[in-house]
Amino acid sequence: MSAWAVLVAAGRGERLGDDRPKAFVRLGDLPLLAEPLRRLDDSEWVDAIVVVAPPEWEEPAILCAEEIGASKVSACVTGGATRVESVRVGVAEVPEDAAVVLVHDAARPVLPDEVIPRLLEPLGRGWDGAVPGLPLADTVKRVQRDAVVETLPRDELWAVQTPQAFVAPVLRSALDGAGDATDCASLVEAAGGRVTVVPGDERLLKVTTRADLERVSQWL
Ligand code: C5P
Repeated sequence: MSAWAVLVAAGRGERLGDDRPKAFVRLGDLPLLAEPLRRLDDSEWVDAIVVVAPPEWEEPAILCAEEIGASKVSACVTGGATRVESVRVGVAEVPEDAAVVLVHDAARPVLPDEVIPRLLEPLGRGWDGAVPGLPLADTVKRVQRDAVVETLPRDELWAVQTPQAFVAPVLRSALDGAGDATDCASLVEAAGGRVTVVPGDERLLKVTTRADLERVSQWL
């Protein structure tokens, strides 16, 4: 199965309070982007990678790939104003004959390699998409203004991470004319695709704050 990875790194990451985009804050001695890129590059499950960089950060992204000796980077493109737009730009670089696309957030730098085969396996059994998820520990309520309007059944709730794996043509058509969404799976679901959840990993934490960056740096 030929799997292409689209690594979306074009977010601004304002909550980190740095003067550079999140993908370029320091994690150890390198920009954060280096960690997920190296892990995808080293993975036997990944054939090629498209990096989606923030406007004016394409050159530093390419330099970062060169610095770590990433050999599978096929293209580095400029992201859009939203995550969905950035994914769309990245997927447009994936060749028509690719079977599977893995979309991964650069903001989740610690990608354990064993998660990738967990995602690919269900696609071989006819699922359109697979996402890593963790059951929720907290009770989740829907709140309007400051009033609770609903308490959701926790045993049905999962916190979903990336990478998310899709049969390539299914993702392409779900992205066509799609509105905004916080992940790709929701677009595939809305288009009628069948998406399954596989066990995720605590280390796939999305870096949002300085404290997250500290936590993630302990897992390197
Ligand atoms: O904003 P959020 O934390 O959901 O971003 C998740 C991932 O999507 C990050 O890796 C970020 O760089 C990427 N992103 C992007 N283009 C955007 C917004 C977010 O590539 N316009």
